Parts: sequence; structure tokens; C-alpha cells
Amino acid sequence: MAGPLFNPAWLAAALLGASATAAGAGIRLPNGPGVNIVYSRCQACHDLQYVRDAKGLSSAQWQSVVTSMQDYGLEISDQDKSTVLKYLITYLGPNPPPAPEETPAAQLDGQTVWNQNCAACHGAQGAGQPGYFPPLAGNSDLFAEQAFPVLVVLNGISGPLTVKGQKYNGSMPALGHLSDDEIAAVVNFVRTSWGRPSGPASFGPVTPKLVARERERPLTALQVHAVREKMLQ
Ligand code: HEC
Ligand code: HEC
Repeated sequence: MAGPLFNPAWLAAALLGASATAAGAGIRLPNGPGVNIVYSRCQACHDLQYVRDAKGLSSAQWQSVVTSMQDYGLEISDQDKSTVLKYLITYLGPNPPPAPEETPAAQLDGQTVWNQNCAACHGAQGAGQPGYFPPLAGNSDLFAEQAFPVLVVLNGISGPLTVKGQKYNGSMPALGHLSDDEIAAVVNFVRTSWGRPSGPASFGPVTPKLVARERERPLTALQVHAVREKMLQ
């Protein structure tokens, strides 16, 4: 799947969303093709409560909702828009299919979770976009504390960062809709895929249990940034 390309206007919208509270961060929508675009695009200005509450809208009503989001500033390609509409009309329309079964943990592969949920911003090989999306390849922050990358995925992160000498000041949305198994798998994938900087402590793999524990104390994206500051002192 070709992810959404970097888009400065969208990034501006993401910055506006930096104050979003953790309360709505973990809202899950029914699984279906296109749901990942909803998670990554529709939380820039508000959490997914609005989207979930709108369940049952007709096809014409969803089209007009998405068009009004574009008026508010949502930047979306025609292709992503039609994928999102198809998703909303199918899964949050008047006749949704019965809930599909959860992906069994055994089939989870961190690379797939990465490709579907992270690569659009951080790049397929974790190289990032200088000034906009920090690299995860060769990033020593990932090894500073066992739980830090888990906190970022669960809650997002927002505030000034310096990574490998390059400054960032953006906002990553919370991806707490991912399951404990998916988050553990993707963090382990990131830590083991692109080599590691020398020096930092080594950890065993993140377990789904650790993710579940961290999920019980939701943070805002700004609080995760504060955790990072403290961790790197
Ligand atoms: C650029 C900011 C922005 C983005 C991105 C955004 N929205 Fe919204 N959304 C808003 C605003 C502003 C409101 C109105 C809030 C209010 O009336 O209190 C809203 C409200 C809603 C509502 C409530 C019903 C309504 O029309 O007021 C729904 C449903 C909704 N958005 C769905 C979506 C979906 C689906 C996406 C992703 C395709 C999305 N939004 C992305 C800004 C945005
Ligand atoms: C919509 C874009 C987007 C997506 C999707 C995204 N990120 Fe991020 N991520 C960012 C941005 C932007 C930052 C930097 C935020 C800042 O400047 O405070 C970031 C920061 C991070 C950091 C902190 C890096 C550091 O050095 O402190 C980690 C870890 C991270 N992301 C992991 C992930 C993982 C894993 C996924 C997928 C599960 C993911 N991200 C998906 C945009 C994204």
C-alpha cells in the first residue's frame, strides 16, 4: 500500500491537534480496508469519538461530512478520500457487516504493523523526513528506556526534539487503537531491523503485557514529550 505522502498543510493541522487529550486516544473503529488512513488522518483535529458517534450515516451524509472536514483543513488525496469514504460507508454506514475476528496473535508480524501504521510518516526503512518525521533507524532514543517507544505509540508525542543532530517540532498522533500484541510486535521490529547505535543499553523484547500495563496510565502527547526530556537528561 502506498502511504500518504508528506504534506506540510497536514502537518500544520497535526500541530493544532497537539493539545488533544489522552481520553479519546484509544478509540477503536471496526477493522476494514482504509481504517489505517482514518486513524492517521482523522485524529489531527479531534479524536475518533466524533467518527464513532456518527455511525449509521448514509453514503451521501458521509460524503458531505468528509467534504466539510476538507473545508476545515483536512488535506487528503482523491485516492485516499475515496478509500476513506468506502470504509466509512461500509463499516460505519447504515448496514455494517458483522465485526470481523481479531487478528490472531500468532499471525502478527511487526513488519506488517510497521508498513500499515508507521511507514507513511517515518519511511519504509525508518529513515524519516529531515525536519518533519524523525528517523527511527539508528535512533538511540529507542534504546534509552524499555517502555519509551511503547508510550509514544500508545499516546503520541508532541514537542521539540533533536534526533541525530536534526531538529523536529511536530506531533505524532496516538496510535492506541493498535492492540497490545501489535504494539509489542512493531516496537520489537523497529528495535531489531535497522541495526542499532552503539552504546545504549540492551533490552529483551517488549511483551504485550508491558504494553497492557502502560495502557492503564494514559498520557497526553505532551506528557510523553516530558518523559523523553527526563529520560535523556
Ligand atoms: C483539519 C481539522 C480536521 C480534520 C483533519 C478532521 N476533522 Fe472532523 N471535524 C473538524 C471540526 C472543526 C469539526 C466540528 C467540531 C464541532 O462542530 O464541534 C469536526 C467534526 C467532525 C464530525 C462530527 C459531525 C460534524 O460534521 O460536525 C465528524 C463525524 C467528523 N468530524 C469526521 C471526520 C473524519 C471522518 C475525518 C477524517 C477523514 C475528520 N473528521 C478529520 C475538523 C477536522
Ligand atoms: C502521522 C505521522 C506519524 C505516524 C503514522 C507515526 N509517527 Fe512516529 N512520529 C511522528 C512525528 C511527527 C514524530 C516527532 C514528534 C515531535 O516532533 O515531537 C514522531 C516520533 C516518534 C518517536 C520518537 C522518536 C524519538 O527520537 O524520540 C517514535 C519512537 C515513533 N515516532 C515511533 C512510531 C511508530 C512505531 C509508529 C507506528 C506504530 C509511528 N511512529 C507512526 C509522526 C508519525
